Amino acid sequence: MSSSNSDTPGGSGPAPAGYAQGPSGDRRPVTIARLLEKKRRGLPISMITAYDYPTAAFADAAGFDMLLVGDSVANVVLGHKSTLPVTLDQMVYHTSAVARGRQTAFLVGDMPFLSYQADATEAVKAAGRFLKEADADAVKLEGGDGVLDAVRAIVRAGIPVMGHLGLTPQSVSMLSGYRVQGKTSEGAKKILDEALRLQDAGVFSLVLECVPTEVAGHVARRVEVPVIGIGAGDQVDGQVLVFHDALGLAPEGVRVPKFVRRYAELGRTAVEALGRFRGEVDEKTFPSAAESFAMPAGELRRFEALIGDRPDDDDDDSDRWFMSGSTFGASGGTQMP
Ligand code: KIV
Repeated sequence: MSSSNSDTPGGSGPAPAGYAQGPSGDRRPVTIARLLEKKRRGLPISMITAYDYPTAAFADAAGFDMLLVGDSVANVVLGHKSTLPVTLDQMVYHTSAVARGRQTAFLVGDMPFLSYQADATEAVKAAGRFLKEADADAVKLEGGDGVLDAVRAIVRAGIPVMGHLGLTPQSVSMLSGYRVQGKTSEGAKKILDEALRLQDAGVFSLVLECVPTEVAGHVARRVEVPVIGIGAGDQVDGQVLVFHDALGLAPEGVRVPKFVRRYAELGRTAVEALGRFRGEVDEKTFPSAAESFAMPAGELRRFEALIGDRPDDDDDDSDRWFMSGSTFGASGGTQMP
């Protein structure tokens, strides 16, 4: 990866805040050229899903190269059983929130089921919404030979496309469930052939999901574009995980795939913390005075007089009333920050 700034508008001046932390600590915005350069130099590419402003801000601050607004939002955020129900409007909505939270990561919006499969012209219009309305840098779509026309049309319109092969969750019914793909020699060859054809159609990168390590390695070595794996072993050019899986945010009882490594148990932390809050509400130990606001004493006296909760406001009387049996001074009352 070049250490010059020549591909940024800032030219050779100081690097603007941004760019995912590479070994160089470079923080400039991530571009396709930089991702390709990473592959050429054998530097791993990091990607994570994000679905809203805070998840994007956390992931960007952690230095990820790429953020994917996955249609997995349907499962992990909206509670659907599959990715199929999420709509184009919902994907654009979530992508625009993510765009507001990222600083430098390259932002990819996932095209939802039926927004690109039926017709290439409709696919271009749907893809365009991610860039025009949501400030994404690229779109991702699932499939091989069946989507080549759509990929060519979208790329011709100037919109970068990321492909997605292997386990393609939008085709879960055709695949008879969420299973590893490319385990037979024919299946593996099909994945490699389709990867090469997607590259010819113009994709700038590929996701490979749930394929054997060796197959993914062959694909990554045969294509020039970066191959980002999820459940695809360690021979690919980069790795992606679903945000909620990596951070243990799935509600109790939701099964997480074998390829997930959990880097935190935020769901458990959230339940514990919320339990403490709820308990302190029950015990009436929340809020404390320090977590509350006080009214100036004079205003409080006048207010209570106005609503008939104390004798009419006569300065001498009220001061006497206020101080009697009280530790407060005449100017009285608890003064909260
Ligand atoms: O929707 C998604 O989160 C994805 C990743 C699993 C790559 O497509």
